[in-house]
Amino acid sequence: MENKIALILGGQTGLLGQAITDILNKNKWEAISPAKNKFNIFSSEELKNFIQKHHISYVFNTIAYTQVDKAEQEQKKAIELNRTFPVILGNVCKELGIYLIHYSTDFVFNGQKESPYEPTDPPCPLNIYGKTKLEGEKNLLEITNLKLLIIRTAWLFGQGKVNFVSKILNLAKEKQTLNVVHDQVGSPTYTYDLAKYSLQLVNTNATGIFHIVNSGQASWCELAQEAVHCLGLQCKIIPISSHEFPQTAKRPTYSVLSTKKFTEQTGITPRPWVQALREYLYSFHF
Ligand SMILES: NC(=O)c1ccc[n+]([C@@H]2O[C@H](COP(=O)([O-])OP(=O)(O)OC[C@H]3O[C@@H](n4cnc5c(N)ncnc54)[C@H](OP(=O)(O)O)[C@@H]3O)[C@@H](O)[C@H]2O)c1
Repeated sequence: MENKIALILGGQTGLLGQAITDILNKNKWEAISPAKNKFNIFSSEELKNFIQKHHISYVFNTIAYTQVDKAEQEQKKAIELNRTFPVILGNVCKELGIYLIHYSTDFVFNGQKESPYEPTDPPCPLNIYGKTKLEGEKNLLEITNLKLLIIRTAWLFGQGKVNFVSKILNLAKEKQTLNVVHDQVGSPTYTYDLAKYSLQLVNTNATGIFHIVNSGQASWCELAQEAVHCLGLQCKIIPISSHEFPQTAKRPTYSVLSTKKFTEQTGITPRPWVQALREYLYSFHF
């Protein structure tokens, strides 16, 4: 794999895909991020033709059905994107000898653990999104002779697309108080950090399942509070319980991911989420 030509699926409009595209370009890779209508992702032939035509050696797959609540009603769509598509892609990558980097989620876990989840911990998703993402992982891992890296991540924020932090800030500019859930704890992660760390991991030729998130942990309420405070907004953030904010999909109360395996592989310890959040806010929200 001499050339550094990568296909970033979801790279034009996706929250993470845009960050990966930028980071690869900055590192002198050739990043190809086609528009959604460029080819039909469910057609092996069209995928193969595109990959061969552009001499691609790496595929970063950020395409997913990511609307956690809507997935409960739109199960078929979630299955198509999160379970069916990865298999089609995986088989194409196997046939062409392509290194596939596929993203997954902390929502494969049920939140019953009290210390950060390792890649070896048994998954047990609570909702359709998590179930279909887990099935996508499992089906990919069953493809023999595929050079496959699965990166589970969590609670993304970053430029280029609406996300939890940007939503909170827009609301906080208009409202005096905001109620935010405080009994779900996870690993807030900056898309640009995740993209950088992913590239560093890929450069070690890693395969298998890894977790990549910024270090530390927070509740949604703590994340919101930090963002509002950082921008000096006057809005008061009020902690509430999940029962006071019912959502269609059940979510884990604790889904902090351990990056120990990532650090062992790369020698890198991800920076704290608060520091990453400040960089995002100072760069894009002032
Ligand atoms: N966001 C998070 O907090 C989070 C947390 C944990 C794990 N993850 C994982 O990280 C990965 C990236 O997530 P993300 O938040 O960046 O996702 P996202 O912003 O929803 O991006 C998904 C991308 O897939 C594209 N896409 C959807 N259907 C498609 C189709 N039929 N053909 C071609 N493209 C299609 C979307 O295009 P359009 O915009 O045009 O629809 C979009 O560019 C996913 O695997 C997700 O499960 C995300």
